[in-house]
Amino acid sequence: MKPASIPAAARWSLQGRVLHWVMAALLVGLVALGLTMTRLHADLGTTFALYQAHKSYGLVALVLVAWRIVWRLRTSPPPPQAMRRAEWLMSRLVHVLFYGAMAALPLTGWLMASASPLRLPTRPFGLFTMPDLVAPDAGLFMVLRSIHMALAYGLVALLVLHVAGALKHRLIDRDDTLGRMGF
Ligand code: HEM
Ligand code: HEM
Repeated sequence: MKPASIPAAARWSLQGRVLHWVMAALLVGLVALGLTMTRLHADLGTTFALYQAHKSYGLVALVLVAWRIVWRLRTSPPPPQAMRRAEWLMSRLVHVLFYGAMAALPLTGWLMASASPLRLPTRPFGLFTMPDLVAPDAGLFMVLRSIHMALAYGLVALLVLHVAGALKHRLIDRDDTLGRMGF
């Protein structure tokens, strides 16, 4: 069934769908930018600009995930599709872990930028300076960097499972799961 022909009550609210797709694009872009900027070995000016962009859009993700958590706690999901219990549990687990990763990634990023011994200010889009959450500390920076990196790889692993699930519903079960998040 095309998303447009799915009754509104069977879909996530417009707010939920917009948040889902805006954040999906933002998160994939941030992972790509993070991996690129740390491996590019470009000149200092370019590297600085890429890091600033990563930190700025990363903080947008922090605002959006806070908004999305509030929305999610106040919303009732559309009635579930018929599926096996194990499958339902698996999808719930992936969603909960997604929320954990979506919140922890920008928080560890902000903590890491604060702990950096380089002491570079975090200025989202050059507008204002973010307060540092901890004092500069090279050891702490390295720990947070490893956690931030592991979370990013975890997010990608969850995305692979999530997309595989969506495709299974579409191609094998041929049900409306994809349409629940569609426009
Ligand atoms: C959901 C949001 C975010 C995602 C998905 C994300 C993802 C990533 C990824 C994939 C890397 C590369 C890791 C590696 O392989 O070395 C990275 C590095 C980095 N991120 Fe983020 N990030 C996010 C938010 C933030 C925020 C909010 C900040 C700071 C305010 C930040 C600061 C950094 C810094 C400073 C590095 C470079 C660390 C180094 O020098 O090795 N990130 N991020
Ligand atoms: C990093 C990217 C993504 C994240 C973090 C993400 C996260 C989520 C979360 C947490 C939910 C549960 C609804 C909620 O509580 O907000 C959800 C639902 C959904 N997602 Fe994603 N998603 C991503 C990308 C995708 C992609 C690429 C697809 C399509 C191939 C997709 C298809 C869906 C569908 C169809 C649902 C509805 C499932 C249902 O109602 O049972 N998502 N997603």
